[in-house]
Amino acid sequence: MSIVDLIVKKREGTILQKAEIDTLIENYVQGKIPDYQMAALCMAIYFQGMNKREVTDLTMAMVNSGERIDLSSLAGIKVDKHSTGGVADTTTLILSPLVAAAGVSVAKMSGRGLGHTGGTIDKLESIPGLQTTLAREDFIKQVQKIKVAIVGQSGNLVPADKRIYALRDVTGTVPSIPLIASSIMSKKIAAGADKIVLDVKLGSGAFMKSKEKAFELAKTMVAIGEEVGRETVAFITNMNQPLGTAIGNALEVEEALLTLQGKKKGPLRDLCLYLGAAMLMLAKRVKKIEEGKALLKPLLDSGLALEKFAEMIQAQGGNSNVIRDFSLLPQANDQYQVKASTEGFIAAINAETFGLAAMTLGAGRENKDSVIDLSVGIKAHVRPGDKVRKGQPLFTLYYNDPQKLDSALALISHTLQFSSTPFPGEPLIYSFITKKGTQKLNLSF
Ligand code: URA
Ligand code: CA
Repeated sequence: MSIVDLIVKKREGTILQKAEIDTLIENYVQGKIPDYQMAALCMAIYFQGMNKREVTDLTMAMVNSGERIDLSSLAGIKVDKHSTGGVADTTTLILSPLVAAAGVSVAKMSGRGLGHTGGTIDKLESIPGLQTTLAREDFIKQVQKIKVAIVGQSGNLVPADKRIYALRDVTGTVPSIPLIASSIMSKKIAAGADKIVLDVKLGSGAFMKSKEKAFELAKTMVAIGEEVGRETVAFITNMNQPLGTAIGNALEVEEALLTLQGKKKGPLRDLCLYLGAAMLMLAKRVKKIEEGKALLKPLLDSGLALEKFAEMIQAQGGNSNVIRDFSLLPQANDQYQVKASTEGFIAAINAETFGLAAMTLGAGRENKDSVIDLSVGIKAHVRPGDKVRKGQPLFTLYYNDPQKLDSALALISHTLQFSSTPFPGEPLIYSFITKKGTQKLNLSF
């Protein structure tokens, strides 16, 4: 069958066969199918969708387009975590040492930030000396020795996704559930995960802006995991608000360290406990989420998870004194405080404009080649639900360039929504989905 016949087939809503999907992906990566045909196929998938078998075949065809990481020399079940893109979300920096401190191996590959969402590797690079490019065997050896390593993506993992994602970005086909699900799951599988914990963000700052879409995406990824024998569970979590209170690379490391010191409470810590508990459950370290949380909490509060992070920093060549001395992190030259011009209740902090304001200061990349400033960013001093009085500090902006400050201030003025009546706040976790369906969680923080 010719490529155009396959495009027409999908356009008309016919199910594609595995061999057809393999042919499409293989030939596209080899440059034998032009971008315009793949773009047309993506649009057909956008409108017609894919069934469970097709999206699983697409995922595995993408995995097979490149190299796969072999983590089989590491003891135990390897569980990876993925978030669909949060704002002020520094869970990976907290979770990785936390779960490792509980005895479960964490061999983590992370990415850089793009747009208003940050990247773990950029954040880690604000720790003086810390290396994020390790040879594959040194990466494995480090996890064998101290249970944890976080490195940048290296090697030729899922080249099909790199090309298809770039194409989707310019053809209006990013928000397609089968395309997103296969893109995410193929990367986790190629990175060697036996099992996967997903954090699917829902809300104004997320890819998924409706509950229906977020559930559909989560269920699709859980189903793919089930089909390929890599157990996957998914939380659906709130991204109407930034998760933490700091945004910007060094500032987010500081917030992660405060959380690892057990000093900082709130949604960021709470979500880490739930995601970590699910990782322990999949790794068969505990039987239930509640049991996992009970095991992890003391590791945060006693500083054992912080010590594990210090070990990781040292193993990767960084200065581990940073865990208690934040002045070792890159510092911005100036600060500007935004104060409340009126009294009232905070009804919302818009995650997207909060992220964009930090990007404007230089914390994030506008495109892949932008150079970022690790020292700049924003701290929020209030959270939704808080009552504020006139003149109370709302945000501190850390900046180096006064012109960028002006642009960031213009954005930040749209970030807060005030209400004259008390605001009840929103849930952090909406749902927990496993192969058995939606699970009831007795949320307690
Ligand atoms: N994140 C991904 O990795 N892929 C997508 O398609 C969307 C979000
Ligand atoms: Ca991984």
